Amino acid sequence: MYLKITFGYWRLVFVCLNFDMNDQPRIIGSHVYIVDEIGSTNTELLENADNYEHGSVICARKQTSGRGRHKRDWKSQNGGLYFSILLKDQKNISKAYPLVLLSALSVVKCIKSCATQGVAIKWPNDVYINHRKVCGILAESATRADKTDVVIGIGLNVNNSVSKLEGLRNPAVSLKECRGEELDLNNLLDRILGELDHLYKDFTDGGFPNHLPELNRLLYSKGQEIELNASDSIRRIIPLEFTEEAKLRCLQDGVETTVYLGEL
Ligand code: BTN
Repeated sequence: MYLKITFGYWRLVFVCLNFDMNDQPRIIGSHVYIVDEIGSTNTELLENADNYEHGSVICARKQTSGRGRHKRDWKSQNGGLYFSILLKDQKNISKAYPLVLLSALSVVKCIKSCATQGVAIKWPNDVYINHRKVCGILAESATRADKTDVVIGIGLNVNNSVSKLEGLRNPAVSLKECRGEELDLNNLLDRILGELDHLYKDFTDGGFPNHLPELNRLLYSKGQEIELNASDSIRRIIPLEFTEEAKLRCLQDGVETTVYLGEL
């Protein structure tokens, strides 16, 4: 069901009316707030978690201070999908890493109509199409008293043009650039949240390992040497597989090792 209420610059679009395939209320996306412009959807949820329910989602048409990992900017012009999910009362952020990986998987499942080949998840959790980044994910947490709120922020290049942008760390692409036509942002958001809600319920039931075979089929650069950027060093490794803790098992100088910090 679809309800639209407008007040101030907030546009509240879906409210507690979303159900999953088993007619259970959605947890992820129980409340979805869509705004025209915001600094950063991650910052909004981290700083004002008390104002939002567990599973709430804020999606912005445009961000003025979009943030990426390692204090980088995330260009957030109109046409992209920029949204964050609030998970309240988590144990700690590292326990949520598998869920961050499942967030990337939910995006992959929903972009199949745009790219049938060359879709990969680059550890820790970027989505690539033919070696170009289409989606980045930033997981952050805030701890108050003994409670930790985790926010998972997803930036997906949809109808924006990014393949010719300069100054990016990695070559980028948008779904429109792959598919040749625009996508409906609300419909895409709803499908991603539906997938993620399903995967979240599985994750809370201990079902993450069931998704490892699919995740490992999608692992970027699997079996091929690539650079790992880890805080102050760059190493050459060969990615092998994701682990049950969403870490990366790899070969370094012929020796099997597991990494949990850095990015490919
Ligand atoms: C990265 O690849 O470095 C992660 C990018 C994450 C961008 C998203 S857009 C929605 C949410 N709000 C932010 O400020 N950042 C995340």
